[in-house]
Amino acid sequence: MSNSDAVAPLPPAAGDAPHAGLPGRTIVLVGLMGAGKSSIGRRLAQRYSLPFIDADKEIEAAAGCTIEEIFARLGEQAFRDGERRVILRLLDDPPHVLATGGGAFMDPQIRERVKQRAVSVWLHAELDMLVRRVSRRSNRPLLKQGSPRDVLAALIERRYPIYAEADLRVESADGPPEQTVQRVVDALQRFNQRALSNTGAER
Ligand code: S3P
Repeated sequence: MSNSDAVAPLPPAAGDAPHAGLPGRTIVLVGLMGAGKSSIGRRLAQRYSLPFIDADKEIEAAAGCTIEEIFARLGEQAFRDGERRVILRLLDDPPHVLATGGGAFMDPQIRERVKQRAVSVWLHAELDMLVRRVSRRSNRPLLKQGSPRDVLAALIERRYPIYAEADLRVESADGPPEQTVQRVVDALQRFNQRALSNTGAER
């Protein structure tokens, strides 16, 4: 492991800077479709005055077409390969808030790099809420492979044990997004305090 891979957190920003208490790393939001990664991520970035990046939008920009078109023309594997390239590149960028597509953290290479370079937050949500939320949009190819409820239930089985490897788990509130944002802020604060006191204990 090279020095640039070191996992020690940076000290919190001085004074009352808006990002005081942040670990100085990119914050990666993980979770199923409908968990609120983009909506929470955008607000979280505002709160910390950090850039917000939506990985799905970056993949579309790189491919010059929509995710639906990538799935339809090239298949899911091609989408996953593009997703991996784009996210590994984004993880080299200066700290920002990154909303990832629901399948990204399942990729071992992405997961490994996230663990080395970022702090990951799993936005956990129950099936009923996810079903309700995904019904507002119809551009997710995986949800057309069966009833959205069945697809999401199967994804919960398969993915939640892996999402549990994220640094933090936060319950996505069934209310105003600000409530979930506050939970993430609180969890990050605790995480960073723990990281700092562990660093101190080793000295
Ligand atoms: C996917 C989730 C989508 C998008 C693609 C595949 C998945 O992103 O990346 O349709 O595998 O769960 P959101 O989670 O942002 O909807």
